[in-house]
Amino acid sequence: MGGRSMRSLKRDRRRGTYARATKVLPGGTNSNWRAWGEDTVYVDRGQGALVWDVDGNEFVDLRLGYGPVILGHADPRVDDYVAERMRTGVSFSLTSEDEIRVAELITNLTFCDMARMTVSGTEATMHAIRLARGFTGRDRIVKFEGQYHGVHDYALISVVPNNVDDLGDRDNPVRLTFGRGIPEAVTDTVIPVPYNDLATLRRVFERSGDTIAAVIIEPILGNAQGIRPGEGFHQGVRALTKEFGSLLIFDEVKTGFRVAKGGAAEYFGVTPDLATYAKAMGNGYPAAAFGGRRDIMSLLPERVSHGGTYAGNRVAAAAAGKTLSILRDTDALATIVATGKRIQRELGAIIATRGLPCSFTGVPSMFSVVFSEIVPVEYRGWAEMDNALYDAVAAGMWERGAMPEPDSREPWFICEAHARDDLVDRVVSAFSDSLDAALEARARG
Ligand SMILES: Cc1ncc(COP(=O)(O)O)c(C=O)c1O
Repeated sequence: MGGRSMRSLKRDRRRGTYARATKVLPGGTNSNWRAWGEDTVYVDRGQGALVWDVDGNEFVDLRLGYGPVILGHADPRVDDYVAERMRTGVSFSLTSEDEIRVAELITNLTFCDMARMTVSGTEATMHAIRLARGFTGRDRIVKFEGQYHGVHDYALISVVPNNVDDLGDRDNPVRLTFGRGIPEAVTDTVIPVPYNDLATLRRVFERSGDTIAAVIIEPILGNAQGIRPGEGFHQGVRALTKEFGSLLIFDEVKTGFRVAKGGAAEYFGVTPDLATYAKAMGNGYPAAAFGGRRDIMSLLPERVSHGGTYAGNRVAAAAAGKTLSILRDTDALATIVATGKRIQRELGAIIATRGLPCSFTGVPSMFSVVFSEIVPVEYRGWAEMDNALYDAVAAGMWERGAMPEPDSREPWFICEAHARDDLVDRVVSAFSDSLDAALEARARG
């Protein structure tokens, strides 16, 4: 029964590293999202779909750095090219051909007529929002509960609270700031709305439409269990934004170049006005971009501000140029979909034999396992799932050499390098044994 293949994780160096790190890094990390207290993990290295922590524990990586690693860690095709290009100098605050090539690739693969590079997804959404405000002359932004658009002030409203009641009344949600330090003047310009609810969105537009610059949307809720849009939702949002003269921004930081070569816009057959990209475009290097309609993008450089010392730096541009051409010219995405489907099929069979309900949210390259026949359609629905069971299974998988995100809100990510029988088998058996162990523990009370 469950637990037979359990191995004990070594934790000695992790504990020592945590003690050392917390003296100089708040929470012992460079990001709040990685600060897991005593459980904070310190990585040594990665190769393909595997990672090793500082204690030498080996894991099949299903987090992939929250999504960017689309090919695999330390992919030699990308790394060798980046190494070659970076030897010619990295930062000039002048424009290189590598950058032009990235913009050509983005415009070739997506609906965008033009694009500009940034260093992070945060900067990409910040600039897209500013551009939408500059274009429309309006201040307000509509965003959806449970969506994460980075760490600038305008993005940190009604994100992913642990207690969904904090979002307030569903028909009139509060503007819930994620942490202190966000001015009320900023908060007042953001209108949070539950996802997948066109009627509420229409009410918001009828009340305040002439003040709304844009709707920013994660086409699949990549930070909330991979919740998918219902039939016609994106088309409905597209129609509403057009009706009221607002722009539609697809935040494709997680979905871009992952769910299809042309991202979620291609996958769902909906053309937004602007989009933001990051993660998969650089296979883990800090490359990001925003782009869209020529008439909007043409407000740059004269009328709307965008810049950055490191925007388009050689390392990021070379990484993006190489990664995007691999995604364009090879079957990498098809391989990822096939691997994701295979894992889903095998997990589904295991869950069914235990007599439990099961669904998968998201898409095969980025999905969550939900122990329910009904999947959530908005962030508030996440709280109604059997997340305690997921948490126990995820923790068990770590002990057995597979590393999904411990938080049930974050999907599992698949990369090209997962396409190996031994790795898929390891993920599936770690899941199976962990599920049995979790069910046994539950039965024991
Ligand atoms: C949808 C989405 N938008 C924006 C961001 C912010 O990107 P970054 O972490 O590169 O600033 C993220 C990060 O996870 C994201 O998932």
